[in-house]
Amino acid sequence: MSLVKLLEEEYVKKHPRSRELYSRALRCFASGVTHDGRYVKPFPIYMARADGTKKWDVDGNEYIDYVMGHGALLFGYNDKRLRRAIESVLSNIHMGSCTELEIEWAEVIKKLVPCAKDGFVRACACGSEAIAMAVRLARLHTGRDKIIIHEGCYHGKWESVILAHNGPPYGLCNTRGIPRSVRENTIIVPYNKPEIVEKIFATGDVACIILQGNAPYTKEYMEELRELTEKYGVVFILDEVVSGFRYAAGGAQEYYGVTPDLAVLGKIVGGGAPIGAICGSRELLQYYEFRDDEYWNRFVRISLGGTWNAQPICISAGLETMKIIDRERDEIYPRLYKICERIVNCIVKCAEEAGIKVSVGGAPPERPMAFIHPKFGEGSSSLAAYAFYLSMVNNGVYPYGTGRFMPCVKHSDEDLERTENAMWKAMEVLKKDNLVPSCDS
Ligand SMILES: Cc1ncc(COP(=O)(O)O)c(C=O)c1O
Repeated sequence: MSLVKLLEEEYVKKHPRSRELYSRALRCFASGVTHDGRYVKPFPIYMARADGTKKWDVDGNEYIDYVMGHGALLFGYNDKRLRRAIESVLSNIHMGSCTELEIEWAEVIKKLVPCAKDGFVRACACGSEAIAMAVRLARLHTGRDKIIIHEGCYHGKWESVILAHNGPPYGLCNTRGIPRSVRENTIIVPYNKPEIVEKIFATGDVACIILQGNAPYTKEYMEELRELTEKYGVVFILDEVVSGFRYAAGGAQEYYGVTPDLAVLGKIVGGGAPIGAICGSRELLQYYEFRDDEYWNRFVRISLGGTWNAQPICISAGLETMKIIDRERDEIYPRLYKICERIVNCIVKCAEEAGIKVSVGGAPPERPMAFIHPKFGEGSSSLAAYAFYLSMVNNGVYPYGTGRFMPCVKHSDEDLERTENAMWKAMEVLKKDNLVPSCDS
């Protein structure tokens, strides 16, 4: 019997309650899940509790976790400081009024995020909504309709920006139901080819270009785009939903040294509670202003509500998170980089020891800090990723999706040792079952 089959049997045996819950879930949700990333075979693991870097499933199994609230939790689960911040506002949700807390929250964003320094901030419910707001500001400001996004990038579920997420072919996979008129206004370009972008900019039809902070752009490309956007009057939008407060306190814009016109924030800026935000130039965010000008108010300004805008739970948790970042950045980022480096090195070392061809994926490519994963190259069977997932879970490590790692600052040396041991066992399976070509083939 193949080792994968044995791993599958072990997985089923270890998780009877998860299996039972999944059969119930299948009657409630399509394919039993509420997020594509939680769909795994033979069935997902149902979690009951989380603390620090660990999670416990409904069958009592313990895991070192690398989901970290889809990357929203920089300090792990159940952080006392964040819990206190959330508890402090529980009696006041949701007043639907202005609060001092939201000002403090925006002030810290202005302090940490370069493009917000002299600008404005606006809160909303999630990253997808924030992207839609940023694009509308760019369209209004430029009077143009077209937007540019990059192959493979994810900017949330809004139909204008979801077009490039799956592929190749980009723009065609998983895009049914999106009207042609919407598709015609989104242009998808490859990474790091400024000459292609410039040709499109030169048509004079482009409102904005959106970059995903955690995607494989070169610094040179970002710098060149900054110049080109200025030359052609195109709005530079940086999607920092993942990279924000993760790559550095000031996000990818600090890490690369390139300041966009608008940044889109999410995840960490809400400290683990649902949130989205945009920040950046006043010239753009002024379109939310009320003025003593009837024409402006009725025909120019964007009217914008939102039941969950600056909801106190996310504002309080986000504020506390950013205050900690501001205070402890000199310890946080070196530690986070070290953790990421250790996971990267571990993938390389385990693959080397097992003698199989595996490389490391993740973003940014030169120093992966988000979605770190082993890349099973050409010649690998699709069973490789499945076997990797089963083996990691059976050995107490819970990856993001089927095999990616989103670290947090609290991952300890002991957690990393356990991760390394699990990784080593997983690579052995891949080797023994010939699921990945060996180094010398
Ligand atoms: C880069 C990026 N942009 C935008 C989004 C959308 O954010 P949300 O899920 O809060 O709508 C995500 C979500 O994972 C993301 O990773």
